[in-house]
Amino acid sequence: MGKVGIIGGGAIGQLIAKRLQAADQEVCIKGREPLTNSTDADIWLICTKSYQVLDAVRALAPSPSLPLVLLSNGLGSHEQLAQQFANPLYLGTTTYGAKRDGNVVAMTGRGQCWYGHYKGGKAQLGRVHQVLNLALPPALFFDNVLLPLWRKLAINAVINPLTARDNVNNGALLASHYQQEIARLVSEMQPVLAAQGLAMNVEQLTTAILAVAEATAPNTSSMLADKKAGRRTEIDAITGYLCQQAAALGLAVPSHQALWQHIKGSDR
Ligand code: PAF
Repeated sequence: MGKVGIIGGGAIGQLIAKRLQAADQEVCIKGREPLTNSTDADIWLICTKSYQVLDAVRALAPSPSLPLVLLSNGLGSHEQLAQQFANPLYLGTTTYGAKRDGNVVAMTGRGQCWYGHYKGGKAQLGRVHQVLNLALPPALFFDNVLLPLWRKLAINAVINPLTARDNVNNGALLASHYQQEIARLVSEMQPVLAAQGLAMNVEQLTTAILAVAEATAPNTSSMLADKKAGRRTEIDAITGYLCQQAAALGLAVPSHQALWQHIKGSDR
């Protein structure tokens, strides 16, 4: 077995590293520290913030035969990676929860990993599955991985900007005074999602979003956490990408546009 390279030393990157090491898998992390001993990695997992993906992979300059597995939040950087690198590209997302304090990471919730092939050769699919299934079991393969990624983006496009704007935890969104705004956000984005092939109606989307808000009620969303810590948020890869896709389809999403501008306005 080769070595697993991980770019991004945030909570999920570190959780993956810890769990792979526990499964006797050799790991190297390219995070804040300079990269050492990485040349023998046979697969790279990209766990950076969405807006760091391109620069991080450029700095890595991976051999074109090595598979890249993009696990960052949101969408958009997959297209840039596909354009600029010849590497086989896999995409994934996880519902595992992790919390990092310095170099100590704790798993806050067991989940799943959804992944699939996006571009290039598929010869390393078995290795990709093996690594993800060791780190974030169960790893579930999707023929069209963009569908679970769009589903996750839809949930994030409601929970993240609202909680960041109002400085509330996820569970606050269950209150009755949020329901009209949530309904507006969902009905605006549903046709955009349908155009991507996501077969969920307004009611199903609303139920899925509120279920996540309920299951993660005491949690601070990643966007609110970024805002509180004075970090740039991932609004461009979530709401921004949604708005761009809507514009390309000629669909109006004014409530999402307003949230995008609002959160961007306070981004550093
Ligand atoms: O970004 C996040 O924080 C999470 O994806 C979610 C689902 C919104 C729960 O906090």
